[in-house]
Amino acid sequence: ARAAGLNLSDIQGDVLIGMKKNTELFYFFSIANAMDFKPKLASEIFPLITTTTQLLDVNTQPTTTLNIAFSQTGLTALGVTDTLGDSAFAGGQFVDLENLGDPGSANWVPHFAGTGIHGVFLFASDTEDNIDAAAASLEAALGDCVTKVYTLLGAARPGMEAGHEHFGFLDGISNPAVDGFTASPMPGQSVVAAGTVLLGESGDKVARPAWAKDGSFLVFRQLAQLVPEFAKFLIDNPVVEPGVLTAQQGSDLLGARMVGRWKSGAPVDLAPLFDDPELGADPARNNDFTFSHPDETLATNQTRCPFSAHIRKTRPRADLPPIVGGEVHRIMRAGIPYGPEVSDDEAAANTTSTERGLAFVSYQSNIGNGFRFLQQTWAGDADFVHAGTGVDPIIGELACAQRVISGLDPTDSTKTLTLPNFVISRGGEYFFTPSLSAISGTLAV
Ligand code: HEM
Repeated sequence: ARAAGLNLSDIQGDVLIGMKKNTELFYFFSIANAMDFKPKLASEIFPLITTTTQLLDVNTQPTTTLNIAFSQTGLTALGVTDTLGDSAFAGGQFVDLENLGDPGSANWVPHFAGTGIHGVFLFASDTEDNIDAAAASLEAALGDCVTKVYTLLGAARPGMEAGHEHFGFLDGISNPAVDGFTASPMPGQSVVAAGTVLLGESGDKVARPAWAKDGSFLVFRQLAQLVPEFAKFLIDNPVVEPGVLTAQQGSDLLGARMVGRWKSGAPVDLAPLFDDPELGADPARNNDFTFSHPDETLATNQTRCPFSAHIRKTRPRADLPPIVGGEVHRIMRAGIPYGPEVSDDEAAANTTSTERGLAFVSYQSNIGNGFRFLQQTWAGDADFVHAGTGVDPIIGELACAQRVISGLDPTDSTKTLTLPNFVISRGGEYFFTPSLSAISGTLAV
């Protein structure tokens, strides 16, 4: 049975649908003076916060949308003493970095290394000018009760690459359907309990303060991507099938097998040898697969999609038995690329000289079941989903410079390939995105 509808005008807009604009500014701040900040949270910030209801209708979507989230130290600064019941959130991301497989904090943006960030404003709009204007106007209204600590500007890639992350793959295809929210799930889109994403909703098993209901934990990660290096690795290590694949096709296939999808979004489980852009673009078909092929043995089950592929690691589908009541290790992803396109010089040198990557955002009611579980227990475990699989080629065990991964060659599933890292964690923080009523009724008073 469907749960009763959620109170969408009380849930911040980014959580269930993502703000989905061309440009997004992550504005990390600290609260300099809580006594001054609280009334301004009510009078200046609250009226600008974009709700889910507003986002759902293009006629009510503001030109520039705004969401706000707080870290544990931010809530503490506001005098909140209730515990939210999430130990990862309570400790902050910096003390969690080993669990995430990060190689220490040498590559971390210094502002993330610690607990000095109290919150983040997420501004999203069609243009950078709109965002600059909105941020400047909010800064003027807030005065010196808030200090800007760090900003990261995300932007959709240009032209035909819009919607694709920097390695070139279409992103934002597979997010869970949410019970009580998603009217008609797409084929292959499983339904999760609302409490998997939202605190205090059905399916959230942790005791929470009443005011935390309909909030969600926001995981932010700045993940730099070595794009020319990734492209060079594919050129140097093509899948070889003489008479079937050209060298270029073999390289493209290796990339597709690392992700589990072609650049168009077409899943390799359905298009094992060549990209199928029509399939990739068709939401009725591009998520409709399970990795299950009952006629195949364990040895041949990777002919289509490697066990280690990014999307198989982070959502193993039929590799795991079905979960009664809906899957719990699911997240809502709402990230956006950041940084410029690869320059001609970088492409010629096969070397990154300007940082670019993914401003990763995920929402979940439980960081230990959501983002951290996917990162640590699945992507980071070389023996998941079977012994000897190897870690996730995209995000697995970034502390290890030589990652040995099997299954990437469809002609010999036992063959291993040693991969350097193509992603560098620049760190991040764990936040809580409160409901509108929590802001007006608890945090701002
Ligand atoms: C799916 C890229 C980091 C979790 C995808 C897809 C791409 C992609 C291309 C397929 C499109 C889609 O299904 O929407 C990347 C890149 C990353 C990155 C380039 C780093 C720079 C992460 C991280 C996590 C994650 C850190 C979580 C720990 C997922 C999940 C899916 C996904 C859950 C959907 C799987 C499914 O439902 O089939 N990613 N990703 N990704 N990614 Fe990532």
